[in-house]
Amino acid sequence: MEFFVKSGNPEKQRSACIVVGVFEPRRLSHAAELLDETSDGYLSTLLRRGDIEGKVGQMLLLHHVPNVLSERVLLVGCGKERDLTETQYKQIIAKTIATLNDTGSLEAICFLSELHIKGRDSYWAVRQAVEATQDSLYSFDQFKTNKENTRRPLRKLTFNIPSRKELARAELALQHGLAVASGAKACKDLANMPPNICTPLYLAQQAQILDADFEKISTEIIDSEQMAELKMDSYLAVAKGSAHPAYMSLIHYKGGTNDQKPIVLVGKGLTFDSGGISLKPGAGMDEMKYDMGGAASVFGAMKALAQLNLPINVIGILAGAENMPAGNAYRPGDILTTMSGQTVEVLNTDAEGRLVLCDVLTYVERFQPECVVDIATLTGACIVALGHNISALMSPHKGLTHELLNASNQSGDKAWQLPMDDEFQKLLDSPFADMTNVGGRPAGSITAACFLSRFTKNYNWAHLDVAGTAWRSGINKGATGRPVSLLTQFLINRSENETTEANN
Ligand code: BES
Ligand code: MN
Ligand code: ZN
Repeated sequence: MEFFVKSGNPEKQRSACIVVGVFEPRRLSHAAELLDETSDGYLSTLLRRGDIEGKVGQMLLLHHVPNVLSERVLLVGCGKERDLTETQYKQIIAKTIATLNDTGSLEAICFLSELHIKGRDSYWAVRQAVEATQDSLYSFDQFKTNKENTRRPLRKLTFNIPSRKELARAELALQHGLAVASGAKACKDLANMPPNICTPLYLAQQAQILDADFEKISTEIIDSEQMAELKMDSYLAVAKGSAHPAYMSLIHYKGGTNDQKPIVLVGKGLTFDSGGISLKPGAGMDEMKYDMGGAASVFGAMKALAQLNLPINVIGILAGAENMPAGNAYRPGDILTTMSGQTVEVLNTDAEGRLVLCDVLTYVERFQPECVVDIATLTGACIVALGHNISALMSPHKGLTHELLNASNQSGDKAWQLPMDDEFQKLLDSPFADMTNVGGRPAGSITAACFLSRFTKNYNWAHLDVAGTAWRSGINKGATGRPVSLLTQFLINRSENETTEANN
């Protein structure tokens, strides 16, 4: 799909379809009013007759509206003008795209990007529209013999904005939206891939493809033997029971100068988490192929970053491993010595993510990072606390927390901070080792973060638990592409700071 932005009048456009909003109760949006005037009240007559009420998501497709140059006009219900929420805006865009695809318009000019949403501007409206469009068009059908092909799909979409003065910002929104959407698609494709294909080695191969595709990216693969030399014995313990060996993939993006410290993103990459000897129940276990969702989001964010060509240095790490039960698998009761030298008593082999991540968090010290953010489908408790639409953010650093929450708010990729006060740390006390790998049922997401915090003393660090947000279950099962949008926004903001600092 090709996207454009423009600032023009609906009645003057010659297109296959013009998309304009209608508010509840039976009120025309500004763009719809202009079409109404041109057509001598054609639209207001339809509204009076009750053809469309304006409820959120209602669609009415009109052909040959008098005096209008475009072939079709699509009226889209947008609810009460003042009450339009961000979520509704995205839903309306998605439904519009589905309707356009169903009704044979190869191109369209959409005036919904002119709708006003409290606290948001044209930049936001265009960027969200691009992201929502690409998200709604996504399907993972490479294993379907018969693919559902749209006969005449939408190919070209133009978003209109109210004022020419905002065109430059809208162009930037388009560019950002496209990069995020392509990163999110890469994230989804990787996360949806079945675990017999998407193994730790597959993650490494995907990372190498990024190296081939982008000049500023170079990929480095650390295999299990190298990890053993590095004494990453906690990470390796998790992978021991699997026939697929662990690989840690480092995606180096160099957009900044040599003296700029890198931002490090670490993604949990459990290509399948059976629980190991502490085996998970069978129902829904297939969804544990998504336990590499953190790594997939790092992969997606690195791709978005490379497309945006941002002037910063970033290292994205995919911490690949598979957690399986086997005769040689690690077991409850084992005591592991982590790369940091700290020892861990394993009480549950299903709390494996932190055992993988802790060694990676020690490993990254060598980069003297500007900051480190890990992204992990770490705890079921996170879903209990925040549900499926909000990621959990935990960090001992106020500045980094603020930056990430800000990026979350700007991108609409929701996150909420959970506390990680020192008093939670004692829940990890072990009679035999420096710590256990589980802190019990209460505050399960927080004790997991507390565990990780013990390996992050030498830099600024934040942890995102995306167990609830990385994928959807049920009839619409599939990866969501989150939190690629949040991460990319964080990197955009960082690069803007760099640029202003460089100019000062
Ligand atoms: N990958 C899971 C967390 C998870 C569970 C994500 C369900 C999404 C949905 C993680 O490795 C895990 O199994 N965590 C355990 C920790 C427990 C044993 C302390 C959990 O949350 O039950
Ligand atoms: Mn687990
Ligand atoms: Zn897991």
